[in-house]
Amino acid sequence: AIADRVADLLGRMTLPEKVGQMMQLDARDDIDDHVLAKHVGSILHASPERMNQAQGLTAQTRLRIPLIVGEDCIHGHSFWIGATIFPTQLGLAASWNPGLIEQVARATAVEVAATGIHWTFSPVLCIARDLRWGRVGETFGEDPFLIGELASAMVRGYQGEGLSDPTAILATAKHFAGYSETQGGRDASEADISQRKLRSWFLPPFERVAREGCRTFMLGYQSIDGVPITVNDWLLNDVLRGEWGYTGTLITDWDNVGRMVWEQQVQPDYAHAAAAAVKAGNDMVMTTPGFFAGALEAIELGLLAESDLDAAVARILTLKFELGLFENPRLPDPAAQQAVIGSAAHTDLNLQIARRSVVLLRNDGVLPLPIAGGMARKVAVVGPLIDDAQTQLGDWAGSSGQAGWLPDGHPREMITTVLDGLRDLLPADWELSAARGADILRLAPDPAGDFFPDGQPRPQVVLPCEPDAALIAEAVAAARAADYVVAVVGDRVELVGEGRSTATLDLVGGQIALLDALAETGTPLIVVLMASKPLVLPASALNAAAVIWVASPGMQGGRAIAEVALGLVEPSGRLPISFARHVGQQPTYYNQIRGQHGNRYADLTQDPAYAFGEGLSYTQVEYSDLRLQQDVVSRADTVRAEITLRNSGARPVVETVQAYLSDRVTSVSWAEKELKAFTQVEIAPGETLTVRIDVPVADCTLVDARGDRVVEAGEFSLLVGPSSRKEVLLSAEFRVTG
Ligand code: IFM
Repeated sequence: AIADRVADLLGRMTLPEKVGQMMQLDARDDIDDHVLAKHVGSILHASPERMNQAQGLTAQTRLRIPLIVGEDCIHGHSFWIGATIFPTQLGLAASWNPGLIEQVARATAVEVAATGIHWTFSPVLCIARDLRWGRVGETFGEDPFLIGELASAMVRGYQGEGLSDPTAILATAKHFAGYSETQGGRDASEADISQRKLRSWFLPPFERVAREGCRTFMLGYQSIDGVPITVNDWLLNDVLRGEWGYTGTLITDWDNVGRMVWEQQVQPDYAHAAAAAVKAGNDMVMTTPGFFAGALEAIELGLLAESDLDAAVARILTLKFELGLFENPRLPDPAAQQAVIGSAAHTDLNLQIARRSVVLLRNDGVLPLPIAGGMARKVAVVGPLIDDAQTQLGDWAGSSGQAGWLPDGHPREMITTVLDGLRDLLPADWELSAARGADILRLAPDPAGDFFPDGQPRPQVVLPCEPDAALIAEAVAAARAADYVVAVVGDRVELVGEGRSTATLDLVGGQIALLDALAETGTPLIVVLMASKPLVLPASALNAAAVIWVASPGMQGGRAIAEVALGLVEPSGRLPISFARHVGQQPTYYNQIRGQHGNRYADLTQDPAYAFGEGLSYTQVEYSDLRLQQDVVSRADTVRAEITLRNSGARPVVETVQAYLSDRVTSVSWAEKELKAFTQVEIAPGETLTVRIDVPVADCTLVDARGDRVVEAGEFSLLVGPSSRKEVLLSAEFRVTG
């Protein structure tokens, strides 16, 4: 019936009405004329007042087609004061927990839907391979399999039981594809990437969600082999719509169509750009007002036929009918907002996922702090991020990120910083002192009036900030007077996000000097690295008594960190991305092509500081006796393995068992190993249990020289253990026949 309604409506639309439906405009601009006269199909970045007003205007148009409203609600509602802000995607990924991530997306959808938004531009499926890139924190990390698992969960959570459910919102798989393969980490640069490399690593997560029914895809800004993604016929038509059978909607990124004219200069004018974009299969054109006149002119010039627009417009109308917007435009609903936004249930879920996203990287036994020991102690909590609520939330969260046009400030009591968490949870007879110790950066008005790539004015420039001797002395005095010093260091939102790549991965400002000075005091130093992405740690941190990493851990982050530090919660997070020892050590991702004999530096090991999959607990889990049900299998079989795990420590633990595959001889250069399965199990102290891992032989693939994904017969190793480090993996061999 929806198809009939779409066909009927499409049949009654004029050419300008069709062009308008393909446009998504920035609701912060004056768009009333566009809604009335150009019939725009969608808006983004709209306040509730704007949504109500703009949806009201559509009622004055001939066909009364409702607007679809989009927004970047990527770890919670990006601009709603009081919404639940979860850890950023990289923080969520550290949980390695698809079930919880699905719940996070569901909770986000429920909050977002109550505010009149129908469409979130999330999740990000880019593979983070250059740590300098500003958007690393928006990704699920470096591994295609982990990304696929977690993105699939997120899409399920957003889209819920189906679009007719008023709490379902459209998910967007972005940025299709290869956007993260930047030059020098710089945002949106030409991706130097072959079709084979795309098929090997970058496309598989997208293929998975395309086949599972993710309803929209957003196209990256960049070009591949000189062809902007916006008009990349091979990627959009041969692969996405052809091979994968994707029937969903494509949306460009910000002004991709205009950029082909004024930035990339691959189209002479808007008529040619519009024609090329429509012909390549774009449905929704984000924030290119010139598309309207451009598309009409293209038709006049014969570059485009009216019928070329029909498939795109039909796809957009289908979404609107499926969402039921013609019957109910799902306007902002104050009663629903009151009931669900920042609810106790969502706050509790936020704490659960924040706990699971804390990664303990090093511990000489100082943690957990001995609060049950009966002896009162003193803790100094120092560093620029001990109480920085905004940085803890990360970007796309209110005033901190690109969505920063709206007023500042979630209620402070919704956010537990590390200082709050320790104050709340330390025993009453323990003493706590606090000192800032260092600043990270200084901000100054931008004299050049520069702009972010998404068109918003860059309000300030980041200036270096020298160590401040007085601040350091204060922190050192606090550390000297204490039994433990907790130093919370990292990056700030101004160094994170779109158009904010960094040339260095160092802790900036006075932070290294602070850590060095703290290490010299001899007081056991616990470093809490609150960094949106892996940073390079100085020796004083690498050799500290303990190191914890959280990405941008969200509203409950400080409490989760305190709970872990005090042993109220067992650390269980695992790295979804490797940490480099030096900015020049890149790339550090674990699944690099093997056997490059020059693959090391004369002045530095190639070993990462912390490897993909790593993370400690307070207890020890021993892995033994990896066995396979069969060691000769055919292509139709599944490799079934069992492994024994024993918790030989004194605390219950959640263990993430990781299974990697190594194909011994391959017809083409290939990765030494790749993650193929993982599972989480709870193990009680002293308990021994058997974990089963299944890997279908159909997944034991590589991409051959012709670009085909194939299983090559021969010898394989299944490697199972607690991380990607070869020293900790047990190996079992099998042969694929045929
Ligand atoms: O969704 C984003 C995208 O990730 C980057 N450019 C702007 C879009 C809309 O805000």
